[in-house]
Amino acid sequence: MSIRFDGKVALITGGAMGIGGATAQKLCSLGAAVAILDRNRDAGQATADALSGAGHKATFHSCDVSDESSVKEAVDQAAQDHGGVNVLVSNAGIQRYGNVVNTDSETWDEVFNVHVKGCFYAAKYTIPFMIRAGGGAIVIVGSTQSFTAIVSSAAYVAAKHALLGLTRSIALDYARQNIRANCVSPGTIDTPMLRDAAAASGTSPQDIIDVCGRMHAMGRIGQPEEVANAIAFLASDWASFITGTSLVVDGGLLVPTGGMGLQESGIANAEGTK
Ligand code: NAI
Repeated sequence: MSIRFDGKVALITGGAMGIGGATAQKLCSLGAAVAILDRNRDAGQATADALSGAGHKATFHSCDVSDESSVKEAVDQAAQDHGGVNVLVSNAGIQRYGNVVNTDSETWDEVFNVHVKGCFYAAKYTIPFMIRAGGGAIVIVGSTQSFTAIVSSAAYVAAKHALLGLTRSIALDYARQNIRANCVSPGTIDTPMLRDAAAASGTSPQDIIDVCGRMHAMGRIGQPEEVANAIAFLASDWASFITGTSLVVDGGLLVPTGGMGLQESGIANAEGTK
């Protein structure tokens, strides 16, 4: 049993940057050939070129995960280029804000199409290659919002909850074919998605990052590499008896009852009630 991926091929949706980019780097460093599927052509090609330039096997495939024919074409091309598929990291995602009253149908569909249909399509077209290879591993990127909610994120929270169900369904349906499916559920991670959301809020990104950091028991937000490590573990043979579950990677964000409100409000300090 090894955490290495020598001779294995990993497809990463949303692999151009952020958590997906760090995962591409991590899996390459552990010996995998990596196919990056992303709708951002420039960033995706640049990430693949950087990995290839460092001596790894990496390709870029332009793909919109919410478009079934685009996913099928990209998966087929990646499998042809690398000789199969052993690992899928279903990571591509977008963040949209709104409650159920002010979220329009188009936004709701956009969020569900990228997160839920995107994972469905990616699994649908990679699993036949995994069966041909005698097994495989799927890691779906959920969120702490797969278990809890934040305000004004109805579509995102609902979609991330749905991914837990999809993870369990895939795990059950393909366990006997030696395909494992698990979810990684990150807390706040320092990626372009977070920085863009911070910039759009009109507050300084560093202020947002500091506030988010204080919500986590560890007092800081996470780095993409820290999520990539968990993804690599679940995708590897070290996780050979783990399927249908979720690994929370959140620096203790979900640990306190009722969040960190008392400490944040100043009513209690880290040592106890004032
Ligand atoms: P990011 O915005 O930094 O990177 C996302 C990547 O997905 C980009 O390369 C983007 O081009 C690609 N993408 C978006 N829509 C796509 C589509 N329709 N087809 C193909 N590619 C598409 O985001 P980040 O933060 O790295 O997020 C990755 C995953 O982690 C997402 O599923 C997100 O919901 C999840 N997540 C992120 C957290 C954070 O704090 N950054 C926390 C919890 C979960």
